[in-house]
Amino acid sequence: MSGEQKISWKFGKRDAVFLTVIATVILVLVLGTSERTTKAVPNDQNHLAVTKLSECMSCHGAQGMRPRPLGHIKGGQCFQCHTQPKAWKGMPK
Ligand code: HEC
Ligand code: HEC
Repeated sequence: MSGEQKISWKFGKRDAVFLTVIATVILVLVLGTSERTTKAVPNDQNHLAVTKLSECMSCHGAQGMRPRPLGHIKGGQCFQCHTQPKAWKGMPK
């Protein structure tokens, strides 16, 4: 019983690959938890004057002067993702 079944383990190439994969996954997860970086709504005359969501869309709709990027969420509460300007008074619905 002794000797023959001895399991010897050495740190090999496959272990190195495995550890690298695990380390990469952990790194990606940790880095992914950082602050959101979605752009804030600019603090300028265009934006301070707005009080309705439909007004946002007159400039940021498909025909507007600055359409949202392709694949951007269609409706939604803009301020859930884009921080509103500090001096802003409106409340788009
Ligand atoms: C009168 C037209 C106009 C209206 C109304 C308007 N925007 Fe804008 N918006 C612009 C323009 C032009 C820019 C681009 C650049 C800038 O001002 O720095 C911009 C930029 C932005 C940006 C940042 C993108 C960037 O390039 O930095 C966000 C976010 C945004 N607008 C959200 C909104 C939201 C939310 C509303 C409604 C509350 C709104 N806008 C209403 C014209 C408008
Ligand atoms: C679910 C989150 C979310 C909501 C809600 C949302 N946006 Fe965005 N928006 C984004 C992301 C993400 C981007 C792309 C990159 C960035 O701005 O950092 C973006 C980009 C934009 C840009 C272009 C920025 C540029 O770089 O030129 C504009 C303009 C914009 N959004 C306007 C709006 C408006 C107006 C609304 C409300 C109708 C709105 N967004 C609602 C997440 C959102």
